[in-house]
Amino acid sequence: MAIAGIDDVLRTTRAVRRRLDLDRPVPHEVILECVELAEQAPTGGNQPSRRWLVVTDADLKRSIADIYRRAAGDSMIAAADALAGTGGDRERTMASAAHLARHLQDVPALVIVVIHGLHDGSGRPGLFDSVIQSAWSFCLALRARGLGTTWTTAWLSHQDEVAELLGVPDGVTQVVMLPVAYTVGDDFRPAPRRPARQITWLNGWGLTVERAPASTRPVMADGPGVTVEADIDAPPERVWLVVADLDAPASFSREFLGAEWLDEPGPGARFVGRNRLGEREWEAECRVVEWAPGRRFSWHVGDPAAPGARWSFELEPLVSGATRLRFSVGLGPGPSGLTAAIKADPGAEADIVARRCTWHRRNMTATVEGIKSLAESPSPTG
Ligand SMILES: Cc1cc2nc3c(=O)[nH]c(=O)nc-3n(C[C@H](O)[C@H](O)[C@H](O)COP(=O)(O)O)c2cc1C
Repeated sequence: MAIAGIDDVLRTTRAVRRRLDLDRPVPHEVILECVELAEQAPTGGNQPSRRWLVVTDADLKRSIADIYRRAAGDSMIAAADALAGTGGDRERTMASAAHLARHLQDVPALVIVVIHGLHDGSGRPGLFDSVIQSAWSFCLALRARGLGTTWTTAWLSHQDEVAELLGVPDGVTQVVMLPVAYTVGDDFRPAPRRPARQITWLNGWGLTVERAPASTRPVMADGPGVTVEADIDAPPERVWLVVADLDAPASFSREFLGAEWLDEPGPGARFVGRNRLGEREWEAECRVVEWAPGRRFSWHVGDPAAPGARWSFELEPLVSGATRLRFSVGLGPGPSGLTAAIKADPGAEADIVARRCTWHRRNMTATVEGIKSLAESPSPTG
């Protein structure tokens, strides 16, 4: 199989809005070819219930564009105007969304993917799960042929009006509209996304490895780690006040007792953390490797050249205005409290690592939950 070409399509199928070629017609043949391919996607019960509504008529497209703008496009245009000049990803995405909202009627074909059936409220994903994979295959097939589109759902609150316009009968659910055109150029790039190893858990929630483990149970050489996340109903600046306070986690952790800065907080600054585990109490010197207020605080424990653990708090702004806090640790590569235990019983290394990770996960969960409750309280720093 020509894996390089397939991977390239998977990697570069972007939301195309500003680079849709509005002047070049899209032959119906090409759309049929892409639907044919998309229909190879799985469907629940193997029932072929998807239908593809292709709209090319100028009056119909104008009416759909009006519905789209009333449902969501007008607010995208307003948001883009408000964000103009602020810089950053959100401004770019909104400007692009506003462009599509303004020009939807000029896109050569609007393809609405629907399915026979209505949601039954059973709690199963229901109909969407038989459409989305197929609609995405359609997007990939377009990309492979030099066409592009954008997944749009913001108008679905007004899908009854679209149904009325196009004669869609009751009992049919609309899932997505894909405005289809040839693209201007085809040099699309991968989007910045988190590396897979940071969001892929191996054999348990939040458990990570930095390298492919030689066996199913990771050992130190595999770079085991733990990530814990919580969505906090407060903006990043507020969450940062708690995260930047070294002592805050001490009231929630069953191991960490507190810490003191040795230098002014910032990249390269040192602090000493105090810990207790059972009878054992110890201090560890830590060094800040990243200090980006409101975004990220990372530090290494022990020898800077070979840290015993690498810790990080990351604050991710969510569209809702809330913050996703990610607290993660990577064990090693340098010596740590685990080193002696592993040396004493090398055959138990995987068990020792697993126990340590489970312990960290419990403590880190308590810490993140504690930070959440402080950040969501009226006075985050107490
Ligand atoms: C569920 C869903 C709904 C979306 N709805 C819209 C929409 O209504 N209008 C729009 O312009 N873009 C919409 N998008 C496109 C996203 O904004 C787009 O995927 C995002 O900007 C990232 O760009 P990329 O896909 O090129 O990485 C939607 C995407 C998804 C997954």
